[in-house]
Amino acid sequence: MAWTLWALSSRYIDMAENAKDSEVMEKIVSLSKRRGFIFQGSEIYGGLAGIYDFGPRGVELLNNIKKSWWKANVYDKENYFGLDAGMFKHPKVWEASGHVGGFSDPLAECRNCNARVRVDKELAKIGVVADEKMSEEDINKLFDEHRDKIKCPNCGKKDFTKVRAFNLLVKSNLGDFTSEGNDPVYLPGEACQGIYLDYKNIVDTMQPKIPFGVAQIGKAFRNEISPRNFLFRTREFEQADTQLFIRPNENKDAFEAIKKDRWNWYRSLGIKEEKLRFKQHENLVFYAKDAWDIEYEFPTGFDEVEGIHDRTDYDLSQHMKFSGTDLRYTDPETAEKYIPWILETSMGMGRVFLAVLCDAYHEDEMGGETRVVLKLAPHLAPVKAAVFPLLKNKPELVAKAREVYAMLKKEIPQVMFDDNGNVGKRYRRQDEIGTPWTITIDFDTLGENPDLLNTVTLRDRDSGEQKRVAISELLPLLMASIRV
Ligand code: GAP
Repeated sequence: MAWTLWALSSRYIDMAENAKDSEVMEKIVSLSKRRGFIFQGSEIYGGLAGIYDFGPRGVELLNNIKKSWWKANVYDKENYFGLDAGMFKHPKVWEASGHVGGFSDPLAECRNCNARVRVDKELAKIGVVADEKMSEEDINKLFDEHRDKIKCPNCGKKDFTKVRAFNLLVKSNLGDFTSEGNDPVYLPGEACQGIYLDYKNIVDTMQPKIPFGVAQIGKAFRNEISPRNFLFRTREFEQADTQLFIRPNENKDAFEAIKKDRWNWYRSLGIKEEKLRFKQHENLVFYAKDAWDIEYEFPTGFDEVEGIHDRTDYDLSQHMKFSGTDLRYTDPETAEKYIPWILETSMGMGRVFLAVLCDAYHEDEMGGETRVVLKLAPHLAPVKAAVFPLLKNKPELVAKAREVYAMLKKEIPQVMFDDNGNVGKRYRRQDEIGTPWTITIDFDTLGENPDLLNTVTLRDRDSGEQKRVAISELLPLLMASIRV
């Protein structure tokens, strides 16, 4: 089902800016479903807006992106520590962080069809910028000035309610056995808060010297008014965050180094340079002193995949004030005490997953036919190689193919055996999954041509080129191609 329809079925507006872009996106959504990458959440019940499931191929691709991120941000660094904090946090955390008071989007409802719109996004469509820090009163004034130009994207009418600041935090009743729900435990609005809460534990147990970093991949939940563009804006998502704790005012060079480092990581995923760009924020969110986005050019245009934020001492100062715990760092050499400043990188895992899919998606011609192929970097591909017997009704070919498959699978678990349909169909299927290598066992493998005994046909996904390779060479060749 098309991504536009998924969202509309839940009364939320989700429209591509123009038909051609929407066509490419719909092809990617359709492939994601067809090949087991992404499923709509609760699909058999008609779906739940803004929630998606990663299918068997999707979870592999997702895990490979996470592994690459973890390697770059924990293993390849000397002064970064990994963390996996609990999702639920003391209710005061979200007051201290500013989310209870200031984490909202401006919402208006169409009086004709009841569609809900994000007013800042509708204003942006007509070239009017609404500052993130605007009060409810100010954004109402701005909206009133432009009401006559803003059409409901669902029914086309221009009849909206007043604008209301809608808080995005999602509440739970964890540990609350009353019916009032007065002191809710929130689901995380951003994953990074766990790092601030464990900062003191990390200092006490790891005795790190500043500057040091903490890296975490964690879930976040936001009651988005209009989830849109497939995985781009969802209500449940994962964030991969790093927080670098630095000395006050030593932010400038470190910030530039982080920007460069993050850019190189996107390039290491195989993402084309021309599809990436930096964008500095004009309107800073409540906690930031400086903020840059890394944007990817999706079929619908450039949009944010990661935020890099200079958060100064905002977070630790707030948690020190609200918790009453001393969160100052003591310099081990000088005994000087100070609240560290924080430089943050915060990446949306779903957005990067989508960027990787969009970047890998190609249609080309091979053997006189149009084919769809995902040109994924081999270290990200969910299936590294597929082993085929040329014919599935020849037991001797199947037995040899199974033997090669078992030998490879022992070392590379993401190898699959495929004997479904003819070889042409198997190639098409593996191209759509993004499998870099396919290996065919034929009669020559068994010695029909004695010179080719124990050799196989190895096909390269991107060029379609086939070459004859000894079975003994397969493992080293595959290992070298998937190494990061
Ligand atoms: N801790 C900082 C923070 O949360 P953010 O800019 O709100 O900053 C960081 O979010 C990243 O999380 C974004 O760059 C984006 O990739 C991802 N993200 C934010 N909201 C999202 C949503 N509703 N759906 C999917 N990804 C989202």
